[in-house]
Amino acid sequence: MGTYYVTTPIYYVNAEPHMGSTYTTVYADALARYHRMIGDKTFFLTGTDEHGQNIMRLAQEKGLSPQDFVDQVAEKFKAVWSFMHISNDDFIRTTEERHEKVVQRAIEKMYQNGDVYLGTYEGWYCPRCETFYNESELVEGNCPIHKTKVEFVSEQSYFFKWTKYQDQLLDLYNSQPDFVVPSTRLNEIRSFVQAGLKDISVTRTSVPWGVPVPFDQSHTVYVWYDALLNYISALGYTEDTNQMEYWPGVHLIGKDILRHHAALWPAMLMSLGLPVPKRVVAHGWWLVSGEKMSKSAGNIFNPYDLAKYIQDTIGLDREAAVDVLRYFMLVAGPQRDDTDLSMDAIWLTYNSNLANDYGNLLHRVLGFMKKKGVSEVPKSTGLRYVRVAETISAIAEKYHQSMDVEDIQSALKNAMDLVKFLNDFFDKEKPWSLSGDELAEFLYTQLEAYKVATTMLSPAMPVIADRAARILGTSLSLTFGESAGFTPDLTCGPLFPRYKEEKPNAGTQQPDQACQQPQEQKTQQFSSYISYDTFAQIDLRVALVESAERVPNSDKLIKLGLDLGPLGKRTIVAGIGLKYAPEQLVGRRIVVVSNLEPRKLKGILSEGMLLAATSEDGLPYLLGVDGEPTPGSKVK
Ligand code: MSP
Repeated sequence: MGTYYVTTPIYYVNAEPHMGSTYTTVYADALARYHRMIGDKTFFLTGTDEHGQNIMRLAQEKGLSPQDFVDQVAEKFKAVWSFMHISNDDFIRTTEERHEKVVQRAIEKMYQNGDVYLGTYEGWYCPRCETFYNESELVEGNCPIHKTKVEFVSEQSYFFKWTKYQDQLLDLYNSQPDFVVPSTRLNEIRSFVQAGLKDISVTRTSVPWGVPVPFDQSHTVYVWYDALLNYISALGYTEDTNQMEYWPGVHLIGKDILRHHAALWPAMLMSLGLPVPKRVVAHGWWLVSGEKMSKSAGNIFNPYDLAKYIQDTIGLDREAAVDVLRYFMLVAGPQRDDTDLSMDAIWLTYNSNLANDYGNLLHRVLGFMKKKGVSEVPKSTGLRYVRVAETISAIAEKYHQSMDVEDIQSALKNAMDLVKFLNDFFDKEKPWSLSGDELAEFLYTQLEAYKVATTMLSPAMPVIADRAARILGTSLSLTFGESAGFTPDLTCGPLFPRYKEEKPNAGTQQPDQACQQPQEQKTQQFSSYISYDTFAQIDLRVALVESAERVPNSDKLIKLGLDLGPLGKRTIVAGIGLKYAPEQLVGRRIVVVSNLEPRKLKGILSEGMLLAATSEDGLPYLLGVDGEPTPGSKVK
C-alpha cells in the first residue's frame, strides 16, 4: 500500500472532448481504479487549460467573455467524463483562484531565486499549441504540429533559465531510465536537451487573458508555465511541501507535449526545489485514415457518437456500450504507436475478446449449470483448484508488473490470458462427464477464477465487472478462493452478444438475454440523433392551468385555459380525460409545446399541446415541474 497520483493533461477548451482527450482520460482512470483496488491511497486529477491567446480569440468570435466561454466548455468536459465512467478525484481549472495563487507564488519564487529574469523575446509562436518555435522547426513556415500559420512575436518578456537545468535534466534521464516511457520517447527528449536548451519566455505583455505576474502587472504568465503548475496547485502546493502527500505523480500525455512535460516541467520543479515527476507516459495519436485526429483536420470522433454506435449496433445498453468503448481504447489504442481508429478495429476487439472469450465463458459455464440442473456451488478446493491457483498467481504477477509501469495494454492482455486459459480448462476438463465432488470442484474453480479475471478487467470495464459479479453473486476481488460458494443467476444471457457484420442490430433481437438495464434497451428504438438545433425548434413552456372543463360528448378530451405569461392566454384541448378530472387540473403547472400549429378538435381551436407520458396502462401521466416557476418559463 502506498500513494498513487495520476494526471491527464489539462485540456484546452478550444475544442470539445474527442477521442484523443478521451483516450488519455480513460487510460488514467483505469490506472486510478487499479491503484484504488489494490489499496493505494490514490489521487486522480484531470481538468481544463483555460488561459491564453487562442481561448481569448475564440471567446471573442463567439461574442462571449472569456470567462463565460471557458465556463461553458469546462462543463462539457465534466459531462463527457461522467458519461465515460471517469472517477477523477478533482477537476482543476486554470482560472480558479486556488490555481492562480500557486502560479503567482511559483513565478515569484523563481524571480527571487534568480531563475526568472527580464529580457526581450523575438521569435515564432503558434497560438494553437501556444508554443514558441525556432525557425528551423517550422514546416514550410507553419507550426510543425498544427500545420497552421505561426506569428512573429517581438516583445519584452520574463525568461526562465531553462539552460541552467540542462545537465541536471540529462542526469535525470540517465539515472532514471523509466522517467519517460516508452524508451523511444526518452531518447527523443534526451536528444532534444542534448542539442542545447534556450531560456524560455514565460510571460506575455500582449495576452491579457492570463494570470498577472505579481511583480510586474504589465505581464501575464505564459500559458504553458501556468498550465504545468496545475499538477501541484491541485495538491495545494505551498512552500510547505508537507501538503503534497501525493507528489510526485505519473503524468499521462500525448507525444506532442513531451517537451513541455519531460524537459520544461522537471526544470521548473528543480527551480522550485521540488521532486521531479515519478514518470511521464507519452502515448501516440489516434489517426483517421492515417492522419492525426484533430479539430483542424476536421476528422474528429467523439465518444458520445461512438458509444451510441456500439449501443445501437449490438443492442447493448448505454453503460455497457461505454465500457466496451473504454476496453477497446485501452487494448487497441495508441499506447505506444499512432493507431488508426476504425469501426472494423472496434468489432475485431469486441468479438474476439469480449463476445467470444470473456462474455461467452460465463455464458458457457452458466448454461452448463442450467442444463445439468445445478444451481448452487459450494466452496471446493481440490486438485483442479490448486492447478488453476498456480496459473492465476503467475498471471496475476505479470498483471501487477504491467500495471506498475502503467502498461495497461499488457495488463489487460494478461487478464485475457486468464480468460483464454479458463476456456481451455473448460474444454479439457470435459465437465459433462463429471459429477458429485468433482463437478463441484470444477464449477467452483471456474466461477472463482472468472471472478478474478473480471476483477482484473474491472479498471477498464467497471460497470460490466460489477454486473458480472452480481450475476455470480459474489464481490470483486483479486484473491482466488475468497468466495464462500456460488448461487449464480442462471437466467442471464450473454454479457456481450456477438457482432455480426451481415446482421447489424442482431443484439436487439434478443432483448431478454443479457442482464442489462431494461430501460436502456428502449433507447435502441431511436435510430439516430437529432441535433440540438432541431430540438431547440420546439418551444417548450411552463403553463399554469387556470380553467378546465370536459369537452361535451367526449370521455377523453378536456379543454384547458392556460396562462403562458409573456405568451399570453391560450386554450388547448388535451386527451387526458380518462385519467384526470377537470378539478384536479386547475392550479397545476404543466409543460406545453407552445409553437405547435393550432388545430381544431371537436370544433375548439387547440393552440398547443401538453406533455404527458403514456404508461403501460395506456393512460396519460402529466409532466409536472418542480416548485412554481413563472408561467411562460422556457423548458429546455
Ligand atoms: N493544454 C495542453 C496541455 C497542458 S498540460 C499541463 C494541451 N491540450 S490539448 O487539449 O491540445 O491536448 C491534450 C492532449 O490530447 C494531448 O496529450 C494530446 O496529445 C492529446 N491528443 C490530441 N489529439 C490526439 C489524438 N488524435 N490522439 C491521441 N491524443 C491526442 O496540449
